[in-house]
Parts: sequence; structure tokens; C-alpha cells
Amino acid sequence: MKILLTGGAGYIGSHTFVALRDAGFEPVVLDNFSNSHPAVLERLERITGLPVMLERGDVLDTPWVEAVLRRHQPVGVVHFAGDKAVGESVAQPLKYFHNNIGGAVSLMRAMTAVHADGSAPAAPTLVFSSSATVYGDPASVPITEDFPRSHTNPYGHSKLVIEDMLTAVRTADPVWRVGTLRYFNPVGAHPSGLIGEDPADIPNNLMPFVAQVAVGQRPYLNVYGNDYATLDGTGVRDYIHVVDLAAGHVAALQALLGRGESFTVNLGTGRGNSVLEVVKAFETASGRPVPYQFAPRRAGDVAQCYANATLAKKLLDWEAQHTLDQMCADSWRWQSANPNGYRG
Ligand code: NAD
Ligand code: UD1
Repeated sequence: MKILLTGGAGYIGSHTFVALRDAGFEPVVLDNFSNSHPAVLERLERITGLPVMLERGDVLDTPWVEAVLRRHQPVGVVHFAGDKAVGESVAQPLKYFHNNIGGAVSLMRAMTAVHADGSAPAAPTLVFSSSATVYGDPASVPITEDFPRSHTNPYGHSKLVIEDMLTAVRTADPVWRVGTLRYFNPVGAHPSGLIGEDPADIPNNLMPFVAQVAVGQRPYLNVYGNDYATLDGTGVRDYIHVVDLAAGHVAALQALLGRGESFTVNLGTGRGNSVLEVVKAFETASGRPVPYQFAPRRAGDVAQCYANATLAKKLLDWEAQHTLDQMCADSWRWQSANPNGYRG
């Protein structure tokens, strides 16, 4: 049972590749390496002991994606490919509308074409990487899937539009099976230390920045805001181990291929941790100090964001297993063994 992973060479895609292999699927990576490194493929081969099937190219190239679908006959597709840097999306909105929204349109057109002429092995089955960013500034926590959606930047806007497009496509043709996964804050790495998050530039997200401070690549962490209405004044998020997140994709595909009903679920732990709690846990896991200083709040940040994770448990029989300490330990193993990521 082949599964096509657009963006499969990226952070979440590569971990999902391993989880799908472990579950007996045959994942195929489709990636243009715009935000990843081909060296990840050799790491995946070391972890799984099997060759990686790769289709190198752009998801925006609809005829090529259609040819890939015809060649591999996947029973499902997971759509990770896209750009994800919030700040960049504010500076270059068209890049995000083009690659994220355009990429989703292109993929769905290709899937429609192979289904229409009867050459697909199954009904169009798609798992989409959405984000807790679609909840904007939530009125309360924990967040359930029926909370109102909004956007505060073009990245978030692109996710919202794609969610709506998926609904429209399903409405037009109910044969589509769609799993929309709203990730909270993915962190950590595979326990082998062979794959992990490899930001191309200065990390925007907390955990990779903390890891780079601990390994000595950056002198200190800026903690954005210490006057939020939270337990210690710093921002609270639902950090989820990327291995748990990967397992959520396997559960989503199994549900779509089994019951066949579409769904939208949060993938989070249901718990929130503050920036200072993350710093402390990382210091313990790494045995290294993580110096920090307080800085003004970051524009667009919310005080607290964490999931009510019960719907995923109910619909997918999935729940996160890893603790914050394990997330930090695995992130540290990856960072300390690969201080320059896949670039060696
Ligand atoms: P990532 O950048 O590591 O992976 C994305 C992959 O897609 C990269 O390998 C990149 O080269 C590829 N790609 C981008 N545009 C492409 C194109 N046009 N054609 C082919 N390949 C293309 O990101 P990630 O952290 O693994 O995130 C995966 C998905 O999950 C993204 O859609 C992201 O928006 C979403 N998401 C991520 C987070 C997070 O914190 N990492 C949170 C919520 C949602
Ligand atoms: C960010 C994105 C969000 C995206 C999510 C997951 C913004 C405004 N939002 O959210 O759209 O869905 O990542 O990828 O970028 N922090 C520091 N110092 C740092 C970095 C972060 O104190 O150097 C704090 C933040 O203020 C926040 C917490 O750490 O309180 C987590 O930040 P981050 O990892 O960037 O994730 P989000 O803010 O949840």
C-alpha cells in the first residue's frame, strides 16, 4: 500500500515516513528540497533498512504530479509540502499564496484527474497538514475543533483557505476522503538522533533556538514577553513530540482507508508548557545551561495555545505518549550529534 508524501523530506514528513514504514505502508517521497536536504534520504534508509522511493520535483507541476500518481498508484496522499515561516509570509505573501494554496490546488487537480479516468486504486484520500494557527488568538483554552477560525498572517491565511478548499472539494464530490490535521507545536526528533529539525536560517521557533543555545551556537535565548497572564508570565504552548505526530498520520490514514469518513482533528497533547518550563527541561536533558534574557512580546503571539485532544482519541484512537522531558532529550540528541544539521 503506497502512500505519497509531498514534502516527505522535511521535518514532519521524514518522521512520518518512518512511522508509515513501521506500520507496513510503502511511503514515496515527493519533494523539491526547497526547505530540506537530500541527505535525509540516506538517514531514512539507515533507520528503516530499506531504499527510499523518491520523486524529485515540484508539487506545483500538475502534469508531473499526475504522472507520479499514475506511476505509483498510491492509496493515499499526505500533503506536507509548503512554506511555513510566519515572518517571511508577512514580507512575501505571494510566495505563500502561490506555493501553499497553489500547491494544494495542483495536487488536488492531479488527484481528481487520475480518479476521473478510473486509473486510481482507491477513492481520492488526502491527509492535510493544517495548524493550530487557524485558531488565531483563541478566546479560551483548551481549544476544541469547533472554535472559530481566523488568521493573523499570510501563512495562517493560506492554511485557512486550504481547509476551505478541501471542504468545497468534498462537498462537490463526496467520494473524497479528507483528514485535516491541526498540529500544535511539533518538537523533538527520532530517538536514533539521525533525523530531526534542520532550520535553514536562524530558527523562528522556540525549541530549535533553545537547542542551538545549548550546543553553543548562539549565546542566549530571547524570551518574548514575561508579562502574559500565564503561570510565570511567559507564553504557553502545546509541544508535541514529532514521533507522536507521525503516529497521528498513520492513524489518520488507517481511519480514512478503513471507515472512509472525513474529519478535522487537533494533534496536540492537551497540555501547555511555558517558555521557562521548556528552558528548564532542556537544561536538564542536555546538562548544559540555556542562558536567556527577557525581550518584548513578539508581534502576533498569543498568551496561551493548547489543544483539547479528545476528538483525535475518539476518532483515530490516537493520543500523544511522550513527555516534555523526552521531547527535549530527543531534540538534544539530534542537535548535539548534528550541530550543522544535514549539512554535516
Ligand atoms: P518542512 O519545511 O521541514 O517540510 C516541508 C517540505 O516541503 C520540505 O522538504 C520542502 O522542501 C518541501 N516543499 C515545499 N514546497 C514544495 C513544492 N512546491 N514542491 C515540492 N516540495 C516542496 O516543514 P515541516 O515542519 O515538516 O512542515 C510540514 C507541513 O506541516 C507544512 O505544510 C507546515 O505548514 C505544516 N505545519 C508545520 C508546523 C511546524 O511547526 N513544523 C506546525 C503546523 C503545521
Ligand atoms: C509559531 C507560529 C505559528 C505556527 C507555529 C508552529 C508565529 C507568530 N507563530 O507559533 O503560526 O503555527 O509556530 O510552527 O511565529 N519564543 C521565545 N523566543 C524565541 C522563540 C519563541 O520566547 O526565540 C516563545 C514564543 O513567544 C512562544 C513560544 O516561545 O510563546 C513558542 O514559540 P514558537 O515555537 O515560535 O511557536 P508559536 O508561537 O506557537
